Amino acid sequence: LVQGALEKLVPLAPDSWIPGGKPDPLIARKHGLIGKPVSRLDGTLKVTGAAAFAAEHRFDDMVYAALAYATIPRGRIAAIDTHSAEATPGVVLVMTHLNAPRMAPPPVFGSSPTAVGPADLPILQDDRIHWNGQPVACVLAETQEQADHAAALIDVIYDVEPSTTDLAGAKANGIEPGLFMGQPLLNEIGDAEGALAVAPHRVDQTYRTPRHNHNPIEPHAATLAWVGDTLVIHDASQMVTQQAQTMADVFGLDTDQVRLTSPYVGGGFGSKGLWDHQVIAAAAAKLSGRPVRIALSREGVYRIVGGRTLTEQRVAIGARADGRFDALIHTGLSVMTPHNNMPEPFILGTRAAYAAPNMLLKVDIARMNMLANTFMRAPGEAVGTFALESAIDELAVDLGIDPVELRIRNEPEKDPTSGLPFSSRHIVEAWRQGAERFGWQDRPTTPGSRQDGEWLVGMGCATGTYPYYRMPGAEARITLTRDGDDVRAKVEVAAAEMGMGTSTTTAIVAAERLGLPLDRVEVGYGDSAIPGAIMAGGSQQTAAIGAAVIAAQTELVGELLKLAGNDSPLAGLSADAVGCDAGGLASLDDPARRESYASILGRAQRDSVTVTKAGSTPFELMHWSMHSHSALFAEVRVNAVTGETRVTRFLGSFDCGRILNPKTATSQFRGGIIMGLGMALMEETLFDERNGRIMNPSLAEYHLPVHLDIPEIDVIWTDIPDPHAPMGAHGIGEIGITGVAAAVANAVYNATGSRVRELPITLDKLI
Ligand code: MOS
Repeated sequence: LVQGALEKLVPLAPDSWIPGGKPDPLIARKHGLIGKPVSRLDGTLKVTGAAAFAAEHRFDDMVYAALAYATIPRGRIAAIDTHSAEATPGVVLVMTHLNAPRMAPPPVFGSSPTAVGPADLPILQDDRIHWNGQPVACVLAETQEQADHAAALIDVIYDVEPSTTDLAGAKANGIEPGLFMGQPLLNEIGDAEGALAVAPHRVDQTYRTPRHNHNPIEPHAATLAWVGDTLVIHDASQMVTQQAQTMADVFGLDTDQVRLTSPYVGGGFGSKGLWDHQVIAAAAAKLSGRPVRIALSREGVYRIVGGRTLTEQRVAIGARADGRFDALIHTGLSVMTPHNNMPEPFILGTRAAYAAPNMLLKVDIARMNMLANTFMRAPGEAVGTFALESAIDELAVDLGIDPVELRIRNEPEKDPTSGLPFSSRHIVEAWRQGAERFGWQDRPTTPGSRQDGEWLVGMGCATGTYPYYRMPGAEARITLTRDGDDVRAKVEVAAAEMGMGTSTTTAIVAAERLGLPLDRVEVGYGDSAIPGAIMAGGSQQTAAIGAAVIAAQTELVGELLKLAGNDSPLAGLSADAVGCDAGGLASLDDPARRESYASILGRAQRDSVTVTKAGSTPFELMHWSMHSHSALFAEVRVNAVTGETRVTRFLGSFDCGRILNPKTATSQFRGGIIMGLGMALMEETLFDERNGRIMNPSLAEYHLPVHLDIPEIDVIWTDIPDPHAPMGAHGIGEIGITGVAAAVANAVYNATGSRVRELPITLDKLI
């Protein structure tokens, strides 16, 4: 347990307070676990198959569910024939709107802190059809194959009603101002159109991004049972507590009557939340009296799990000859359904990206009859940066200025839309270090000028920003347990782990704060019975957990000092003069005054001590403009004969505060970049505008990158702590994808001289 002497904690500068809270002393620590590469603690369980995912849980007497999906975009069920399905061997129940239990519609995302319904539509409660793919029936059977077969035998006769499933029709029906989490998607500073009109240099272009579907390697699934009046759900969830609460709302239960666990999730990216399948499975379990496993097929995921909606974006920049922006306009349209509240907020990243005295940023909405769209990794920023960063590249070409230099010339001194100072922004360092390492100075300055056999070679760059968030409501519970001289800690947080390393990073942060080795710390998470509420979303979870662990550890010090009493070497010290170190408490001023946890607990005749504490209010968000940043470099080869594009090199240079675990962080950055490369070159949901049907609901037809498509991806970071964030760290879950598509598009332009303004950059657009 001996880990060396307590380091003297360096006081922070007066301007680096977290208003309303204390600055985090860990920021000043130079050695220890934070910043050391640690492998995922659940890695062995996963690769040996010992980690039980949602569809691997089993209840006695369990049945399997299959769904039947509507084939029209809007109308009514005139008749539904379930006789053949019911007569199929093994079938236990066929549930439709005619016999489903009565349930409330799920409260829609954003309507309360815990509401996570994708739409406010009732589920299997009436004969109405709202989208092509909506579940119309659920079959329960003794085996999955029997259920699938029976579901295919259900016959539905529809009364088709008029619908809007094409973009032109949606626009003709009228557009409305976009809202994101209740806030207008509109920023207006000065007279942007006027400044654009008189600017000596201008770009003014339209960029388009398609629908994208979620394709986590683990399709959505849940295994659930009613145990008395309690609903027990093993789910695949990135919003565990919130989903349990929303299920309670749907079934009219108290919060503690739903117990939802989700320790292992095979990817989420925004999609692992509440969709119709969990509600239908719970209803069918209630009706049949049997536990239910529902595992969506890959097609099922496309039918009922929403993805990223389409955008049409205008970016116009007016600039002086030296490249400085006078006007920045980023406007356009996103499409959503009449029943959800998730437009693609593509201007979010533009708000704090560049200085311009005149700005107009605006998202309008058109409505279409389709599946509710949802969050998908960097909702807004991922596609917004494609438009913005492509336009900046176009301007750089027009001005004859290096695109890296053009971006640096337009660095804002403070947040241009909020007026707040930046808490920590070292993007210029990220650009300089990245450019040097990538060999940016060797890029062809004339587009289409470098060729290697059939291949045209080019380089491109782009920047990304993603906001730092920290949702309130996070709590941590710490239990110290003594067994002789051996002391262990259990740290519980109501957080979710989609596979990105949260549980490992939580263990690192807790071990560092408690002065315990990593193998003496156990993390509990992914369980709605744990107090507090955190979710894996908005790249905010790590900061939220960190703040909660800091608060709980501070509380623990106070509790232990009370237990230590007057016979301790620490007697008389106040809690804020004491820290955790080397398996015990130590005076911050005099590290020789110390006592081990085992000694304190032993003298107090205690086997354990437990504290629970909520993290500080995220006041930092009111005082600072806080973001993660990236500088991205791509090298591509475009085949001059076939138009095929290959990414041959990629470098991400990040500025995201302190990096807590370099190993899992590298994976997060690389994973985000890979997703961005798919967005750049392949991903597209093909939506039949005649009837609203998704036409490519499979991995055979919806193209994602495979190993052969991905080059070695180089990742570096500034590692400069943000003094205003807990642990000095920013979220890194979504910055990785942001800007990647633009870096590729700009490299394609550099290679070929062809500017592609519509994703994905498929070969037909280059020939
Ligand atoms: Mo993310 S789109 O906040 O999982």
